[in-house]
Amino acid sequence: PQSPLVDRFGRQVTYLRLSVTDRCDLRCTYCMAEHMTFLPRQDVLSLEELYRLARVFIRGGVRKIRLTGGEPLVRKNILQLFSLLAPHLDGGELDEVTLTTNGTLLSRYAEALFATGVRRVNVSLDSLDAGRYARITRWGRLDSVLKGIDAALSAGLKVKLNAVAMRGDFESEVDDLIGFAHGRGMDLTLIEEMPLGQTGHDRSQSFLPLDHLRRSIGGRWTLVPIDDRTGGPARYVRVAETGGRLGFITPLSCDFCASCNRVRVSCTGDLFTCMGSEGMVGLRQALRGEDPEATIGGLIRDALGRKPKGHSFEISRQAVSGIARHMSVLGG
Ligand code: GTP
Ligand code: 5AD
Ligand code: SF4
Repeated sequence: PQSPLVDRFGRQVTYLRLSVTDRCDLRCTYCMAEHMTFLPRQDVLSLEELYRLARVFIRGGVRKIRLTGGEPLVRKNILQLFSLLAPHLDGGELDEVTLTTNGTLLSRYAEALFATGVRRVNVSLDSLDAGRYARITRWGRLDSVLKGIDAALSAGLKVKLNAVAMRGDFESEVDDLIGFAHGRGMDLTLIEEMPLGQTGHDRSQSFLPLDHLRRSIGGRWTLVPIDDRTGGPARYVRVAETGGRLGFITPLSCDFCASCNRVRVSCTGDLFTCMGSEGMVGLRQALRGEDPEATIGGLIRDALGRKPKGHSFEISRQAVSGIARHMSVLGG
């Protein structure tokens, strides 16, 4: 392998989040506007090109690759990309190839994903109430996701549920989510809403700081801090009553950037070294040019030299300070 990918603060990149499409079959209110303009298909890299990009990162020491979207499973023939990555699992360069999905298509894909070496999936699920689920996702069907989760568990996949914390119903419903997840042996991670893109809803009203929610959950459940990490930004506690793990992702209320090990690449081959900044470096031209490996390696190192120390998101009752790009461009 080449020398490791390290930024100017000494943080090594070992985790690549690779977005395979900006499209999605849902329109979650915190993520997308109801009417979105998606990228023209000719701007999107082929699966083979996405694989070649991933390989450059693998050579630079990346050990974990998460495919994201939009919704990764709406990308045509997506299993091909998992299959291309699979040999790197056996070869030992990668510890994990995984995905974050909304779960609507998971019942169709779960077994095939397991067969390509995927062992763990993160599924977004913000509510167990069908009506509320449909409102948050704008038209999603809760039963399709529940079927997807069951199929994943039956296929032998470990499942982590992701829920974006929001003021209001969520605060009382979180107990049901804990019971549901832990009752099936799944982790549950609560995520603070991040101000990415205009979605037509007012984040200053919906934002729920997780330290606040954690205190209220702690009043009803016994939360025991544990050191477990899954490679991402979540910090976990064990819920004594269920034995299950509950994670908190707190970009706004608690800074986790100091230990950032990640970069993101969009489905058009744009490299973002931080989700919280607009700065990016296009890799597509180099990928299609002469000596792509070396050129891209150089571009990645240059970009890492400019990776910011952290994001500067802020949400308060008075104001929201975020960025224009939607979450779906990079899949979080
Ligand atoms: P694990 O491998 O299970 O730890 O997953 P993960 O938390 O890395 O991935 P997932 O796709 O489930 O992301 C959960 C949430 O964390 C999403 O809302 C992401 O946007 C957010 N997230 C992941 N990495 C970062 C990061 O570097 N910065 C910020 N601000 N948020 C992140
Ligand atoms: N803030 C926080 N999390 C978000 N997600 C989507 N948009 C946002 C946002 N604005 C979550 C999804 C998914 C994960 C990849 O990111 O629910 O679980
Ligand atoms: Fe689609 Fe995920 Fe965004 Fe919801 S959060 S609209 S499921 S990409």
